[in-house]
Amino acid sequence: MLIRLIYLSRPVGPQTAELTDSILRKAHAWNTQNDITGMLCEGQGVYLQALEGERNKVTGLYARIHADPRHKDLELLHCESITERRYRGWSMARVSLSDVDPQTKIVWPEFDPYSASGALVMARIDELVARGSPLQASQS
Ligand SMILES: Cc1cc2nc3c(=O)[nH]c(=O)nc-3n(C[C@H](O)[C@H](O)[C@H](O)COP(=O)(O)O)c2cc1C
Repeated sequence: MLIRLIYLSRPVGPQTAELTDSILRKAHAWNTQNDITGMLCEGQGVYLQALEGERNKVTGLYARIHADPRHKDLELLHCESITERRYRGWSMARVSLSDVDPQTKIVWPEFDPYSASGALVMARIDELVARGSPLQASQS
């Protein structure tokens, strides 16, 4: 059974490009082997990640990510059974949420994901993706 899970967190230290790069390197390797797809959105002091795959794989990975000391304040925004992947082909794409990124400003001017519903957050991510925001979209 396939599921999609979306959570939100805050980095513990500075949210540097190097940190995100190292997370994504690990993610690409493991996710490819385990048929996990999704995207990691980062910027403005938050991580927002969508994970898709077999339920046992996604919940196992989420437990590991939850225990990762590099971030805190994890909140589960959304979890559903799915029949089709939305982020097919991306072992973990990167989406910028930087407030200097013009796409983010247009799509999400009222950026406050900790107060937003899971549905709204998902809609904003989808709009960023539709506008071509994914960067370093590693192919799975
Ligand atoms: C925001 C964030 C997102 C992450 N996403 C993934 C991911 O998609 N896949 C993955 O294998 N590890 C991901 N990680 C890394 C895991 O938390 C963990 O460090 C890694 O799986 C190694 O786990 P282990 O030390 O228990 O072997 C992420 C970490 C953070 C902080």
